[in-house]
Amino acid sequence: METSEAQKCDVAPATATAYLDPNYWDKRFDHEEHYEWFKDYSHFRHLILEYIKPKSAVLEVGCGNSQLCEELYRDGITDLTCIDLSSVAVEKMKQRLSTKGYKEVKVLEADMLQLPFEDECFDVVIEKGTMDVLFVDSGDPWNPEPETVSRVMAMLEGIHRVLKPNGIFISITFGQPHFRRPFFSAPAFTWSTEWKTFGDGFHYFFYILKKGERSSDGTECIEKTDVPSLSLYHEELESEDYLFRTNLDEM
Ligand SMILES: C[S@@+](CC[C@H](N)C(=O)[O-])C[C@H]1O[C@@H](n2cnc3c(N)ncnc32)[C@H](O)[C@@H]1O
Repeated sequence: METSEAQKCDVAPATATAYLDPNYWDKRFDHEEHYEWFKDYSHFRHLILEYIKPKSAVLEVGCGNSQLCEELYRDGITDLTCIDLSSVAVEKMKQRLSTKGYKEVKVLEADMLQLPFEDECFDVVIEKGTMDVLFVDSGDPWNPEPETVSRVMAMLEGIHRVLKPNGIFISITFGQPHFRRPFFSAPAFTWSTEWKTFGDGFHYFFYILKKGERSSDGTECIEKTDVPSLSLYHEELESEDYLFRTNLDEM
């Protein structure tokens, strides 16, 4: 992460629900140039490049001021569209990409709960830490509030709709499989679900949902990976933003 401790104190919200407020993000992005949620590209590049081809049309949802899209671009993936709800994030991202000469990348101000795209137009949709924002006021993570459920479902239904028939949704998150599975496996979706982990200390989750590949009996294909106990990683977690707390559960 490139944001210093002092800068991080300036941008941390008073309450976790601020993460649902576009004004919070606008103010934060006004004076924060780069912050990478859930590790930077170098940590999951080996995973992501398995699923994206150079010709893939890719949508990144909630790009913030992350460098993910530029890293993908440098790896030869140039058909990229980034959206964010924050107009400040969008303007700064446009400027940054233009300065670097990455002019083909499209950056739009848009709400991921109402994606402004036609059906079946992307090969890959990626979100990193963006769905987690929807869980900040979810209440009991085992039994989230109805408002949380409807927001998460609106996001997922939109992503499922804009994916091409064999498209792939990649979700990079702290959200553990037992909290994500009920959403990803909802009957509305035709995607299969598998997940991998990355990270040296705490393991981050890298979900891969392949549209049209759900088995006919509706069961999921879950790649089993040992998940380490959280108690081992307090030091690493303390250096992260406290949005994480809403996603954690002692296993
Ligand atoms: C936790 S940050 C993650 C940023 C970036 N993906 C990263 O990995 O560093 C969440 C981002 O989602 C954006 N966001 C929040 N709600 C959104 C919505 N409804 N539609 C689109 N973007 C949203 C915020 O403005 C912020 O940039």
